[in-house]
Amino acid sequence: MTTTLRPAGPGRDGVYSICANGRAVGGVHLTPMGPWGAGTGWILHIQVLPSRRRRGHACVAMLAAEEIMRVERCTRMAAAVPEGNRAATGLVEALGYVPDSRRFAAPVRTTGLPSGVRMMDTDERAEWCAAELLRHAASLREAGWAGPAAEARARARLDHPAAPAPYTLGDGAVVWVAHGVILALAAPTPDAAATLLRAAGHVTAVQGLPEMSIDLPDVPDGGHTKPCTAAGFAPRTRYWGKPIL
Ligand SMILES: CC(C)(COP(=O)(O)OP(=O)(O)OC[C@H]1O[C@@H](n2cnc3c(N)ncnc32)[C@H](O)[C@@H]1OP(=O)(O)O)[C@@H](O)C(=O)NCCC(=O)NCCS
Repeated sequence: MTTTLRPAGPGRDGVYSICANGRAVGGVHLTPMGPWGAGTGWILHIQVLPSRRRRGHACVAMLAAEEIMRVERCTRMAAAVPEGNRAATGLVEALGYVPDSRRFAAPVRTTGLPSGVRMMDTDERAEWCAAELLRHAASLREAGWAGPAAEARARARLDHPAAPAPYTLGDGAVVWVAHGVILALAAPTPDAAATLLRAAGHVTAVQGLPEMSIDLPDVPDGGHTKPCTAAGFAPRTRYWGKPIL
């Protein structure tokens, strides 16, 4: 049996039918410009008809997707898999993807801004963003990311010019939340993290949004997992990735 990808048609950029001997058995949606910026190709969604599963169609489609993303100058692949989706987890593991990070989410309520927390001014914001970009890109390069893809991901995370400024407690303790997404959390102690998470929750609730989310590195106790869990965050989605050079 031959499995191929066929573009789904005009106006449906990045959407492909997965075909087995010419007949559609599923679909896959790709983009070379996902949430981590240029250089990382994303599998946004993949689906195979229930009656045609476990015959290798998704596996071949994912490998074909890598070829398409290479042509788009991507050096890495990424996929978001909902927690508990065993089939999709098995699929990405079989293809050599490794865990990158996890999205956690928590309900919010207005509590007032905790005392000591204030919004950064324009100069502080610019200085903090520049330093945070360098720090994040360096940590990605240390984890094996190629320079351009690392810089693109770090830039994409901080590229929110219209978002309100980050909040700070001083001493390098910072939280930046935009539209219910915590873009950055830096806290020297668990207490500082808890205070900043309360601040982020308050800001989000005041905007009328019911919950906030944060992406944390997928390593044991990576990036404030404990204070986030204590603040009511639960895992929603796991991000997987791999290089495709
Ligand atoms: C995930 C999905 C696309 C896999 O499609 P598929 O064509 O059945 O996958 P393949 O046959 O290519 O499987 C390749 C490998 O993935 C893993 N895998 C696939 N389904 C699995 C399952 N149900 N449980 C565990 N591992 C699984 C296995 O390692 C498998 O290799 P094997 O069959 O030799 O053991 C399919 O189950 C699906 O459409 N699910 C519903 C939609 C969905 O959840 N999409 C993912 C959202 S990100």
